[in-house]
Amino acid sequence: MVCLGNICRSPLAEGILHHYITTHQLDWVVDSAGTGGWHAGEPPDPRSIAVARRHGIDLSSQKARKIEATDFANFDLIVAMDTSNYRDLLSLAPQPALRAKVRLLLDFLHPGKNESVPDPYWDDNAFEPVFQLIAAGIKALAENLTATAAPPHQPMP
Ligand code: 4NP
Repeated sequence: MVCLGNICRSPLAEGILHHYITTHQLDWVVDSAGTGGWHAGEPPDPRSIAVARRHGIDLSSQKARKIEATDFANFDLIVAMDTSNYRDLLSLAPQPALRAKVRLLLDFLHPGKNESVPDPYWDDNAFEPVFQLIAAGIKALAENLTATAAPPHQPMP
């Protein structure tokens, strides 16, 4: 899950997907990062922590980091919060073939519309609607991935 600073939107996306993974007992791994490194090492924005907590999701153990070339190999999907992050991620992909892993979060919810999760950094009142938008995007992404995933191994009778 990737945004610009890795302190507002992508920590929410990580926390919401982590909660989904836990409640659905999935073996997926999720992490988040920023295309920029200005906030590396910092916890998420207190307003993201607060809105997540109101919805029963704990972001307090997260720390911001900048995306690395190895992330493109280590993860199956690299999910951008907005179209600017999406373009930046395409140019950061260390090999052209890895660009296929880069997706826009809201494309899972409204395919083909090129919709962005707006940056809430300058507006305290934006955090609740941003939470709702990310939660809807994560639900659509998770349902999409669950539908296409191989069924669990069944032992022979
Ligand atoms: P985020 O929000 O990309 O959702 O983490 C931002 C946080 C900080 C800055 C920009 C966006 N900043 O420029 O410091």
